[in-house]
Amino acid sequence: MSDSLATHWRTHTCGELREEHEGQSVSLCGWVHGRRDHGGLIFVDLRDRYGLTQVVFNPEGAGEMHDKAHSLRSEFVIRVEGTVRHRPPETENGNLATGAIEIAVTGLTVFSTAKTPVIPIDDQVEAGEASRLANRHLDLRRPSMQQNLMLRHRVVRTVRDYLDTRGFIDVETPFLTRSTPEGARDYLVPSRTNPGMFFALPQSPQLFKQLLMVAGMDRYYQIARCFRDEDLRADRQPEFTQIDMEMSFVDRESVMDLAEGMIRTIFHEVRGINLPEPLPRMTYAEAVSRYGIDRPDTRFGLELVDLTDTVSSGCDFMVFKGAIESGGMVKGMNAKTMADSSRKDLDDLTEFCKTYKAKGMAWIKVTKTGLESPIVKFFSPETLDKVVKALAAEPGDLMLFIADRPQVVNDTLANLRLHIGARLGLLDNAGHKVLWVVDFPLLEYDGEQKRHLALHHPFTAPHPDDLALLDTEPVKVRSLAYDLVWNGTEIGGGSIRIHDMAMQRRIFGLLGIGAEEATAKFGFLLNALESGAPPHGGLAFGLDRLVMLLAGATSIRDVIAFPKTQKATCLLTEAPSKVDAKQLKELYLKSDVIE
Ligand code: AMO
Ligand code: AMP
Repeated sequence: MSDSLATHWRTHTCGELREEHEGQSVSLCGWVHGRRDHGGLIFVDLRDRYGLTQVVFNPEGAGEMHDKAHSLRSEFVIRVEGTVRHRPPETENGNLATGAIEIAVTGLTVFSTAKTPVIPIDDQVEAGEASRLANRHLDLRRPSMQQNLMLRHRVVRTVRDYLDTRGFIDVETPFLTRSTPEGARDYLVPSRTNPGMFFALPQSPQLFKQLLMVAGMDRYYQIARCFRDEDLRADRQPEFTQIDMEMSFVDRESVMDLAEGMIRTIFHEVRGINLPEPLPRMTYAEAVSRYGIDRPDTRFGLELVDLTDTVSSGCDFMVFKGAIESGGMVKGMNAKTMADSSRKDLDDLTEFCKTYKAKGMAWIKVTKTGLESPIVKFFSPETLDKVVKALAAEPGDLMLFIADRPQVVNDTLANLRLHIGARLGLLDNAGHKVLWVVDFPLLEYDGEQKRHLALHHPFTAPHPDDLALLDTEPVKVRSLAYDLVWNGTEIGGGSIRIHDMAMQRRIFGLLGIGAEEATAKFGFLLNALESGAPPHGGLAFGLDRLVMLLAGATSIRDVIAFPKTQKATCLLTEAPSKVDAKQLKELYLKSDVIE
C-alpha cells in the first residue's frame, strides 16, 4: 500500500484493492455511498477520497452484525474488516478501479450515523449552487470536487518544486496592512488599538515583494491570498490566491522565460499538454486591433477589421459618417456562414451589441445573387467591393459592423466575436492557445475622473524607448508589462518595476498623486528606493483561474474549497454577519444599519 495512508484503523483506502490482493485480510474506513439488499446479502459501496469499494455482508452466522448492516444508510461513516475476494465474473464492474474485487465482511464498526444528505453526493445529479455552497461539507464529498481540490494541490506542488529548484524562497507578507493599489476597492479592518484607524487587506503583495527585493532576497515567491472588493464574475472572487513572484537583476525577457517555463511545466505535469516553446507574443496594439481586447482568444478566426478608411469615401450612411466625423471608427467582422440569419436573429445580435453600449449593429448579407441589407443603398459599388474584400466575405457570409468611439467599437465586437464563435461551435474541441500580450500602454486617460490612471499599477516601469513621450504624450508611452492569456482569460500578469525614486515620483505625478500624498501613502516605498534598490520585476498568476481552466471547470467557485457567492457572501457560515453593539463600540464604529 501506500503505507503512509495505513493507520491503526485501516490497512487500505477504498480506491486501492485489486485482484492481486485476493485472499488478504484488510480493513477499510469510509462513507456508505449506497446500500443494496439482495436476498439476504447486503452490498455496500464504501467511499473515501481515493475511490469506491464494494463490501458484502453475508447473513450466515453473522447475527448481530447483519442487523447492524441492515441499519446502514447513505453517508454513515463505518469501518469494515474482511477478506478480499474476486467478484463473480458477471458482477465485475469495469468502470470502477476496484471493480474486480469485493470484501467479504467479517467485522463492522459504525463511527457515525448521518441524516439523509440534503444534496446528492453524486456528480451525475445537479444540485442548485446555493444549496451546494450552503452545504459545502457535503458538496466537497462529490468526486468531481475532490478531483478539483487534488488538482489544485498538484498545481501548487509543481509550482513550489519549480521555483524551489530555481532559488526562489517563500516569504509570507502581512494581511493587515496599508492599501496596495491594484485598481479595486479595499477591504478595511478597523484597529481597536488605534481609534479611527483602519488596516486594508492586501489587493496583492506588490509593495512587499518589491521591498523584499530591496532587502536583497533576490528571488521571492508566495502562494498569496489577495482581497479585492470588486464586482464579481464567473472568474473573480473577493478573496483569491496568486502565485506571486519577484526577481532581482532581471529584464523583461528573463521574467517571461521563467514564468513561461513554469506554466509549460504545469501544463505538462498536470494535463499532459505540451505548449509551444517559446509561447507566441502579441503587442497590446495588435490584440486590440485584431480582437478588440487585450486578452484575445486566438483559438478561432472571425477577426475584426478596421474599415474606417475604407468607408470614409463612397459611403453616405449617416451612422458611419457621423461616427467618423466625431473622431470614432468603423470596424467589421465576417460572421462566416451566417447569411441565413433571420430578422429575429439579427435583432437579437443587435440587442446583444447594445448591452455593450453600441447604438446599433449594421449588417450586410453576402448571397450568390449579391449583397442584401437595408444599408447597401448608401454605398458606392466600389466601396462595397472594398468592404467585401477587406472582410474576405464569400456568398453565405454575414458582415457585421459597429461604428462608435474606439472603446465601444472594440468592446462590442470583442464580445460579439466570442458570442458568434461559441454559436458557430468554433470553441468546441478548439485546443489551447496560450500567449503573451506585451507593450501595454503605461497609462490610460479616464474622461470621467479627468486624470490618468495606471493600466496595471503605479509601480510599472515605462518602456525605455518611450521616455521622451512621458511629458508630451503620456498615453502613448508603453510599459514593460506583460500578461499571459489562455483561451481568452488573463491568467497572469506582471512587469519590470520602477527602481529609481525620481522616476517613481514622476509617475506618481502623472497619476495626479502629488509629492505630499506620495510621501504620505508610499513614503516607505520611496525610502526603500533611495536605499539601494536593484532592478527588479516579477508577475503573479491567478491560481484559482489557472486551476479552473486546467480542471475544465466553468466557475472559479468549483476550484475553491469555501468560495463566496456573486454577492460576496459565504452561504456556509453566513458571513458577513451583524456584530453586537459592544464590538462596534470597542472598535469606535457606529452604524446606522445595525439595530
Ligand atoms: P493582477 O491584478 O493582474 O496583478 O493580478 C494577477 C492575476 O490574479 C488574477 N486575479 C483574480 N483572480 C480571481 N479573482 C479576482 N478578483 C482576481 N483579480 C486578479 C488574474 C490576474 O492575472 N501585483 C500584480 C502582479 C505583478 O505585477 O506582479 C497583480 O496583482 O489571473
Ligand atoms: P438607424 O438609422 O438608426 O435606423 O440604423 C440603421 C441601421 O444601422 C440599423 O441596423 C442599426 O442597428 C444600425 N446602427 C445604428 N447605430 C449603429 C452604430 N453605431 N454602429 C453600427 N450600426 C448601427
